[in-house]
Amino acid sequence: PPEQTLAVIKPDTQHKEVILDEIRARGFTVSRLKDTVLSREMAEEFYKEHRDEPFFGQLVDYMVRGPCTMLVLTKENAVDEWRAAMGPTDPGEARETAPESLRARFAKDILQNAVHGSSNQTQAHDKIHFIFGDISSENEAVSP
Ligand code: CMP
Repeated sequence: PPEQTLAVIKPDTQHKEVILDEIRARGFTVSRLKDTVLSREMAEEFYKEHRDEPFFGQLVDYMVRGPCTMLVLTKENAVDEWRAAMGPTDPGEARETAPESLRARFAKDILQNAVHGSSNQTQAHDKIHFIFGDISSENEAVSP
């Protein structure tokens, strides 16, 4: 059955429309889409798994700097498929190992790496709920 994941196009990312076209071209259905400026509190909660990392402060500063495009993507195996489409966290590595990936093409550096995706199905479920509330009874596609 189709699976859902939470994807984010991060603040100040160039070519958001190209990225959205690419997402659809890669066979994902955009089931939900909204632009949101995260509060500091929300960004800290969203990235709580990283709170002990040395870059946590910088990461939160970055994520509250402007609107994020929040997406629910639906596809067979969506969590892993979206991670593959993004490529590695570090765009330097992405350019080496996955030159067609979104981070290889659109990320500025390891912090400002253009896109985010949930790590596993449990996290996808939790983050979708955190950003969009309960959408379990909805699965329609939306236009850009
Ligand atoms: P993301 O996949 O959204 O998950 C955590 C984010 O932290 C990551 O993308 C980057 O934006 C950021 N990040 C990860 N590693 C580093 C690092 N070494 N230095 C700075 N930022 C990082």
